[in-house]
Amino acid sequence: MKQIVYSAPGKVILSGEHAVVYGRPALVCAIDKRLTISITPSKTSAPSNQGMKTVEKGVRDFLKQKKIPVPELFFSYSVDSQIPIGRGLGSSAAFSAAASAALLELYTGQEWSLEEINNCAYKIEQVFHKNPSGVDNTAAVFGGLIYFRKEFEFLKTISSLSLKIPSSIEQNLFLIDSGKPEETTAQMVENVGKLYNRKGLLIDKTLRNIEKITKRIVVSFAKEDTVFFRKSIEDNQKELEKLGVVSGKTKSLLKHLQPFGVGKVTGAGGTLGASGFLLFYVEKRERFLAFIQGKRLESMVFHSSYLGLKKII
Ligand code: MEV
Repeated sequence: MKQIVYSAPGKVILSGEHAVVYGRPALVCAIDKRLTISITPSKTSAPSNQGMKTVEKGVRDFLKQKKIPVPELFFSYSVDSQIPIGRGLGSSAAFSAAASAALLELYTGQEWSLEEINNCAYKIEQVFHKNPSGVDNTAAVFGGLIYFRKEFEFLKTISSLSLKIPSSIEQNLFLIDSGKPEETTAQMVENVGKLYNRKGLLIDKTLRNIEKITKRIVVSFAKEDTVFFRKSIEDNQKELEKLGVVSGKTKSLLKHLQPFGVGKVTGAGGTLGASGFLLFYVEKRERFLAFIQGKRLESMVFHSSYLGLKKII
């Protein structure tokens, strides 16, 4: 048997992170940064890290549940990624998706449908993050711009939108690294859960507001309305702050960036230190670029990608 290679994209949540865990919609877009995994069958067992062991077990369990026999096969693997790790851009989901696809093929000798790979990747994300919504792996598998809602554990609405992010908006979008959060995604999701238990009514209102904002962003894309988009990003950040997922350090960074545009946390966020990547809508480009260069802030241009999971070899 020969080498199997798959790649999957990272993602940016435009709106709806955390709210999506509670059945509210999220708007997510795959980006042009990708993770590639190569699997080579071998005669003896090769070392695997914990992440790969988790995927291996997840794929085996997934197949067993379908009553598909799993052969005892050994393999070596390598992972090459352009997606920053643990900063809200979906590195874990891209790994779960690409590695699931590759191992499903290794164990069964055939390519699997995107739907099945997504189901398998979701099970693995549950081991990594305890209570994920499934939005991250869905973006990694299908790519493009997706309106996602988890209705039940067994039913998720995945709407691949036919509209694109208008270039008048996308050309001004940047991703700024506020730094690696001290908390994991699982911890951040748990923290919001605890806040919900303590302040149910208040958090419910915040989640409702986030749903409205998510829908407004879709409308702003459909109407190519930059003003409406700008306002929605600003409002989204305020609601994320109410959910307690933004650190003081990140709030202060966004304040310093205020003269050049508006931004929000994207992904799980972080409160103790940094909050991962920020999605930033730039209005004063030259001054913004000079500022981030002066402060030595890591940033990249946001590029949406309509390419989801892909078999390379
Ligand atoms: C993390 O990228 C997004 C969260 O909403 C968690 C999830 O949906 O699984 C914070």
